[in-house]
Amino acid sequence: MGLALPPLRKVFEGEVAILVPDEPQPTRSVFYNPRMEVSRDIAVCCLRAYRRLRGGSLSIAEPLTASGIRGIRYAKEVEGVRELLLSDVSPLAVELARRNVELNGLIGVASVEMVEANKLLASRSAPSLRLDVVDLDPFGSPAPFIESALRALRDGGLLMATATDAPPLCGIYPRVAERRYGARSLNVEYCHELAVRLLLGHVASTAARLDMAIHPLLSYALQHHYRICVKVEAGASKADECLNKLGALKHCFSCGHRELVPLVDLPAKMCPICGGRIAVASPIWRGALVDPSFVPAVHEELARSSFRHKKLELRLTSTLIEEAEAPPLHFTLDEACRRLKCSQPSLAEVVMGLRSAGFKAYRTHFHAKGVKTDAAVQDFLYVIWRLAKQGAG
Ligand SMILES: C[S@@+](CC[C@H](N)C(=O)[O-])C[C@H]1O[C@@H](n2cnc3c(N)ncnc32)[C@H](O)[C@@H]1O
Repeated sequence: MGLALPPLRKVFEGEVAILVPDEPQPTRSVFYNPRMEVSRDIAVCCLRAYRRLRGGSLSIAEPLTASGIRGIRYAKEVEGVRELLLSDVSPLAVELARRNVELNGLIGVASVEMVEANKLLASRSAPSLRLDVVDLDPFGSPAPFIESALRALRDGGLLMATATDAPPLCGIYPRVAERRYGARSLNVEYCHELAVRLLLGHVASTAARLDMAIHPLLSYALQHHYRICVKVEAGASKADECLNKLGALKHCFSCGHRELVPLVDLPAKMCPICGGRIAVASPIWRGALVDPSFVPAVHEELARSSFRHKKLELRLTSTLIEEAEAPPLHFTLDEACRRLKCSQPSLAEVVMGLRSAGFKAYRTHFHAKGVKTDAAVQDFLYVIWRLAKQGAG
């Protein structure tokens, strides 16, 4: 006889129907967050794009599954899923996920086990048992599961992960970031971009220890969470190349100067612009956050879908495409105008102003008033000051 579940209600998302506890959100006995629908939609499209580019069938593990909604959506909405492994340590979650597997006609494809995530992943680390995709969707940080996920992936497989522990990743609790990710974070105006870079840096250094490399396909920050989707590749020389993309952020809180440098270039403690003291976040990912050929494929999949939040999702992927090759470490109009004590020009005016002054300039999804540019801080501030003066005149 199965475990007694609380009263349930059916929710519909993508192409699946899922039973979730009919209880108020904070006390729900099995976790379910409707706000993560966008993240699940985008992940479905990442898998569709990955499968379309690669061909073949997919084996997927979602070892922190709760109701099973994420993994079940993958099996129902992505073609060619031959195996889906779901697990959770909560007996109620396992019971509910089993009910949902049955409800969605996935018996024979999906299995649900009550087992600790690392243990499930370890059981698939032998070369002949490795998986095509692992999705880590934990409470807070995915750090405790990254190494076992990498070990369970075959060469060319996909690691997808969510992080919701913004305070450490954004430099509000740097000590926690140091403990959890082995990296120093900083609370800068572009903290969400830094959070994604720090998370990718952690995955890259963990992969390197296993002679593996990562290639970020799609990474973003949205609402309260960060998501990464990286392809993993086996081989010591690939891992060495990947390590070259680790580096340090040097940030001057006096003038706002920022730069990404290789780890070996770390020493200088003085800002080259104003002589102020340099603060450091390290190690972080210096490389691209998305693959410029992969994101358009995800965008196309979203465009073809009939997802409820399609408009928002397409807006996100369009911006990701725009900023795919933009310089890192964006500025924000809020911080610039606070420094200059001036009124705020529009984002479009600033982007145009920078471009007509000969700089690259792009919007960024990381901040509604963020600008990625190759202009140095003083040039960026000058363009804004001029625009503000014109506006006031
Ligand atoms: C954020 S929820 C998962 C949400 C789910 N993926 C979704 O899309 O709705 C995290 C789940 O991980 C489970 N969990 C926490 N630690 C675990 C561990 N070490 N191994 C397996 N499951 C774990 C919790 O019981 C919880 O159900």
